[in-house]
Amino acid sequence: MKVEFPKTFFWGAASSATQAEGRVVGDGKGENIWDYASKEYNHRFYDGVTTENTSLFYRDHQQDIQKMQDISFNSFRTSISWSRLIPNGTGKVNSEAVQFYNNVIDELIANKVEPFINLYHFDMPMVLQEKGGFENKEVIEAYKQYAKTCFELFGDRVKYWFTFNEPMIPAEAGYLHDRHYPYVVDFKRAATVLHNIILAHCEAVKVYREMKLAGKIGIIMDVIPVYPRSQNPADLYAAEMADLFYTKSVNDAILKGKYPERLREVLEEYDQLPEVTETDIQLIATTSIDLLGINYYRPRRVKAKECLPNPQGVFSPEWFFDEYVMPGRRMNTSRGIEIYPKGIYDIAKKIQTEYGNIDWFVSENGIGIEGEEAFIEEGIVQDDYRIDFLKEHLMYLNQAMDEGSNCLGYHMWTFVDCWSWGNAYKNRYGFYRLDLSTGAKTVKKSGLWFKEMIENNGFD
Ligand code: BG6
Repeated sequence: MKVEFPKTFFWGAASSATQAEGRVVGDGKGENIWDYASKEYNHRFYDGVTTENTSLFYRDHQQDIQKMQDISFNSFRTSISWSRLIPNGTGKVNSEAVQFYNNVIDELIANKVEPFINLYHFDMPMVLQEKGGFENKEVIEAYKQYAKTCFELFGDRVKYWFTFNEPMIPAEAGYLHDRHYPYVVDFKRAATVLHNIILAHCEAVKVYREMKLAGKIGIIMDVIPVYPRSQNPADLYAAEMADLFYTKSVNDAILKGKYPERLREVLEEYDQLPEVTETDIQLIATTSIDLLGINYYRPRRVKAKECLPNPQGVFSPEWFFDEYVMPGRRMNTSRGIEIYPKGIYDIAKKIQTEYGNIDWFVSENGIGIEGEEAFIEEGIVQDDYRIDFLKEHLMYLNQAMDEGSNCLGYHMWTFVDCWSWGNAYKNRYGFYRLDLSTGAKTVKKSGLWFKEMIENNGFD
């Protein structure tokens, strides 16, 4: 049986500025929260590796883009680093950054690799974080000006824009779960950050529309499909709440133009409502996107709460559900997450039935593996597990498309093994292996498989 995709399908990979660019002496880049945190909170980063130690896309982009072409990518997503382009967050633009992003975009286009450009991948400029980051409404205006600058500088060539990668994460990881700087644990502050990110998204879309550029604008979301342990009402309630907090909150605001009423009721009951004005509601209601990116890594399995939460503790979505460790689940033990390829099909169906079958693409999907050097044979990582992972996910995606899902492409995370938030280089995700001691980038078996698959528009 051949699993076949349309000839126009976007194939490629995603990356982000902080995770790949690196810093080079004299590049004029300002500090962002990751540059700062990986130095000042170094113990929180695997092996203490800082943002300076990335694959140096800033220096090597020309060769890297050639490597993309070598494995037949027709598209690639990366982000612009706000703190590189506008080192102080607002005001003066760094001309070296303009030159760099112009080179990247031109080089991609010259190699027939469509640039997908994201404006924000978790990387708040430090000067603005010191003013409260997205907790401070003034930062929305700064973000809007930054977005406008990007559209003015690069909008003549970039046709696919994204306002944010995973808007939930800076709020959840930075203000509730103690994983990202500023390591705050406070639900209401997290909700404020999320709300302001959604407003910033809307403002950027509005500016883009006003500029009448010939392209599409959207956002990249992390959707974790939720599965209850059983059909028992208590388990179903747990699943409803997990979905409400972590998915519907953002998805409904972005795709339906309003927050779920149920969410408002729950937050009101627990006195956790962030300030939301009539103007905010209007802005959200009148903003729509052209293209949705979905990052999919894992499912979320939940069951009814076994112990009541401590009412003195910090309010959290986890007050309403417990994680369910399903017997026999298939794990990626390096990352500690379940592998569930059918999740991609379930997401596609949900977009189709609940969100107007909007045009979308898989903007990230991937498997991070620790200790890949053990799989090197004849100089190449023999990552058959990654090929199996790809095949299984692509089969489910293909099935959803046969059933009418408007999926336009698939981007793997990631192109070259990259530095990652907290985990640094522990888990490797790339189609190319990065040798940390020499900087050499060598294609893996999966990269060669992907190339062949792209050239055949599918696989057997
Ligand atoms: C995605 C992010 O959620 O997951 C990427 O957009 C990240 O930036 C990827 O690298 C993999 O996550 P991790 O934590 O395993 O590197």
